[in-house]
Amino acid sequence: MTFIIGPSGAGKSTLLKLIYLQMRQSRGHITLFGRDTSQIERKEIPALKRRMGIVLQDFRLIDHLSVFENVALPLRVAGSKQEDYKEDVLGLLKWVGLGNRYHALPPTLSGGEKQRAAIARAVITKPDILIADEPTGNVDEGMGRRLIRLFSELNRLGTTTIIATHNTALIPEDANTLSIEHGQITGTINGEQIG
Ligand SMILES: Nc1ncnc2c1ncn2[C@@H]1O[C@H](COP(=O)(O)OP(=O)(O)OP(=O)(O)O)[C@@H](O)[C@H]1O
Ligand SMILES: [Mg+2]
Repeated sequence: MTFIIGPSGAGKSTLLKLIYLQMRQSRGHITLFGRDTSQIERKEIPALKRRMGIVLQDFRLIDHLSVFENVALPLRVAGSKQEDYKEDVLGLLKWVGLGNRYHALPPTLSGGEKQRAAIARAVITKPDILIADEPTGNVDEGMGRRLIRLFSELNRLGTTTIIATHNTALIPEDANTLSIEHGQITGTINGEQIG
């Protein structure tokens, strides 16, 4: 579990976009799933993206689909049938505290509820990597702490979790933290000094 911090405009979102293959770097090397990303062909990108769960600051929920349908969407797109995933989706929604809001449409949710629905959608496919850009940007401190606990739990269950945040107060003391400033990344990952 790694937090990425740095002032506004430092390049946190850009770094995340490079990791989830939304952007290509013009210089340097990025290794993803053991592959040099510059060697990855365009047609391979969708399959690699399916191994990553993404939570963006603006949620990107589909307003005319219920919370249940939004969270189930990645499974439907992958060709699963509702009878096969219904229990999983409802169980996950319960886990993120939306057990009684599964039928709600996104415009009727609070900011924190939308955030949790977006997180549920990002993790329903059991991704290898979870990437979250300012996942606590729209919630109060109590909810922020709860969401960070959710991420810690996912990480404990085996998901590599990368979180960009302004809110350094929410970062657990033992978490890896990388700082981006003036084009330099510094910090420690699992005790190893970076930069
Ligand atoms: N597509 C783009 N083309 C050119 N410049 C860009 C592009 N996207 C972002 N930038 C610039 O790159 C820099 C880093 O942007 P980025 O969005 O990564 O910052 P950030 O650290 O996420 O900031 P914030 O904390 O405000 O979200 C900024 O100066 C931004 O204006
Ligand atoms: Mg950003």
